[in-house]
Amino acid sequence: MFTRRRVEKLAPGIQQMTGDLLDVLDGQDVADLVPALAVPLPINVICELIGIPTEARPDFRSWTPLIVSPDIHGFEDYQRAALSMLAYTRGLIEEKRREPRDDLLSDLIAARDGEHMLSEDELTSMVYLLVIAGHETTAHLIANGVRALLTHPGRLALVRERPELLEPAIEEMLRYDGPLQNTMPYWTAEPVEVGDVTIPAGELVIMALTAANRDPAQFPAATCSTSPARRPRTPRSGTACTTASARHLRVPKRASPSACSSTATPPCAWPFPPAPSPGAPSLLINGLDALPVHLR
Ligand code: HEM
Repeated sequence: MFTRRRVEKLAPGIQQMTGDLLDVLDGQDVADLVPALAVPLPINVICELIGIPTEARPDFRSWTPLIVSPDIHGFEDYQRAALSMLAYTRGLIEEKRREPRDDLLSDLIAARDGEHMLSEDELTSMVYLLVIAGHETTAHLIANGVRALLTHPGRLALVRERPELLEPAIEEMLRYDGPLQNTMPYWTAEPVEVGDVTIPAGELVIMALTAANRDPAQFPAATCSTSPARRPRTPRSGTACTTASARHLRVPKRASPSACSSTATPPCAWPFPPAPSPGAPSLLINGLDALPVHLR
């Protein structure tokens, strides 16, 4: 269902979309990469995968920030957006049930109606979760990652010179300035020891991902890694680095980002204004509202 085949089938379309979005910037001196690239690329990719029609995508995009950051936008906006998304999704499910297509939602509906029964609520909440989790994260990863490269010109030059380093560089972007501040809330089922603290059973626990990813015990420089010694002691995702040490990292043979990098990077981009743009003040999201850059 959520198969490698289905995801790989998207690759040429993703490259095309990226190229089209960057083509629009051709000839401009300055562009804001958040609305120009970071947001439209992942929302279109996830909607394409699920089977959400093009005309509905702007609505999904406008509902998402209201749903993920009720702390900023307030409960009324959250409720309005959540109910609108739910109503649209239910209608779309009815449509796909009548007329299935080659997309994830049609497959999920077949599972709902077949032997691997999903309840109607599970089906709608799966769409809801996939659209939101599947693009809000990636959009902020793109924006934060581009900003990290632009503010570390040495690393940018290295990745441009050796596109096979893009994949470990993305891993490092996830660690260095990842898109999620925290995990979802969890409750301890039993007492849990964390360092010299015991969290009793039945406590609400939220893990601070951005803090963990700058943990000086794991990442002594608390910044971009510059040597293998600064890599964390235990292997985990989001730990790669972008400098000389990257040569020691395993770069998977299918390092397709090289294909993207030649077509997808603008000829020249530089932060504008030089100071980093302010992040969206959300409890969950670590992202940027804007990333204005010079393109020449
Ligand atoms: C930069 C990209 C991404 C990051 C950093 C990221 C990060 C995370 C994290 C930290 C969680 C766990 C939250 C928790 O347990 O508290 C999570 C859950 C989830 N993510 Fe992602 N994610 C990314 C991209 C995606 C994409 C592209 C999809 C879908 C296509 C996706 C779908 C999900 C789903 C469905 C869950 C919930 C899983 C569950 O509750 O069982 N994510 N993600």
